[in-house]
Amino acid sequence: MDDGKSKQHRERRRERIEEKIVQMRADQEYDAVREIIEFNKTPADLKADMDRFVIGQEQGKKIMCTAIAFHYRRLGQALKKGMTNSGGDIDIALRNITSPKANIMIIGPTGCGKTYTGETASNLVGVSFVHADMTKFSEVGYVGQNATDILVDLLLSAGANPNVAQMGIVYFDEIDKIATETIAYKDVSGRGVQKGLLHMVDGSENTLHIGKERISLSTKHVLFIAGGAFENLDTIVKKRMARQGLEGNWRHFLMADDLVSFGMERQLVGRFPVRVVYDQLTTQDLKDIMIKSQGSALLAYRNDLLAWDIDLEFTDNALTAVAERSEQEGTGARGLTSVLHRVLFEDMYCLPGTYTGTLAVDQNYVKEKLG
Ligand SMILES: Nc1ncnc2c1ncn2[C@@H]1O[C@H](COP(=O)(O)OP(=O)(O)O)[C@@H](O)[C@H]1O
Ligand SMILES: [Mg+2]
Repeated sequence: MDDGKSKQHRERRRERIEEKIVQMRADQEYDAVREIIEFNKTPADLKADMDRFVIGQEQGKKIMCTAIAFHYRRLGQALKKGMTNSGGDIDIALRNITSPKANIMIIGPTGCGKTYTGETASNLVGVSFVHADMTKFSEVGYVGQNATDILVDLLLSAGANPNVAQMGIVYFDEIDKIATETIAYKDVSGRGVQKGLLHMVDGSENTLHIGKERISLSTKHVLFIAGGAFENLDTIVKKRMARQGLEGNWRHFLMADDLVSFGMERQLVGRFPVRVVYDQLTTQDLKDIMIKSQGSALLAYRNDLLAWDIDLEFTDNALTAVAERSEQEGTGARGLTSVLHRVLFEDMYCLPGTYTGTLAVDQNYVKEKLG
């Protein structure tokens, strides 16, 4: 065996693989850019698509879809122009674009579809999505996650392609948990944590060190969505309304000041000018989710059972019973998954059992299983 030759051979193979990866990244980047340049969904189009997944929240979805459709249309049009001016260079085009941006703050009880809306939007638009849990976030990273970790996740969700990552969505979950009042029990100050986020939200230029590679990643065009339950925020708004002699639905009167009273930094609140309030899901909403949502837990179980040639059927009363029980759990639509699991678990375990193609679930069956 000629060692020199095989070494040379391996070297050439490595080069070919590297070239291929570079080419794949370039193709992926090109596709992502083209998708955004060609983005032409109106807010109503986007909402119609969203309605297949996210049930209820009509007014909230309108605001969300308008903000998101406008963001990507604006970015797409700017990118188109920028690409012409840069002779097709994506890096230069992205760097030169100065289109304004309106990040979104979404407020509503747990399990009502806040995160789900953000994630679904990213799928519908075709951009990367990162979910960052703020309860694990800290200013310097000595407790849990820091800003750099979020950017690395964003890069990974974009197939390690920085330009694709730059056009994605970052979702800050449980943003209310870093309010100054509520964070007092931790050894990090809420204020510092919020300031740490500001830099990222403002559109910073970042250098990520991954292995030997240094990757620059700007957040200038990233769409940020911040979600939280903001428990008792309504009381704060209503009190202020009473002081000012205002009457009406508190949701329509929500101001930056109220979020500041809650414990959010004014500067951070200012970076999220679009504000959306989602409602607690009703029993009917929970039922509708099971019947209509393409992402529903029931549909997932149906598909799972179909894989064993069993057709899962729920009567209307059975669905009502599941929805009512889920509502009692107080975790919004999240309760559906666990309640359905309790109803179906035994049958799933006993597969294939004596089923003759159909597993019919009625109200009594649900009540029997749930005790
Ligand atoms: N309005 C909704 N329509 C359809 N499914 C929903 C809705 N709200 C919640 N879900 C379901 O419940 C899960 C948890 O919801 P999520 O959006 O994470 O809640 P949160 O409001 O706490 O962010 C979602 O993954 C989705 O399957
Ligand atoms: Mg959430």
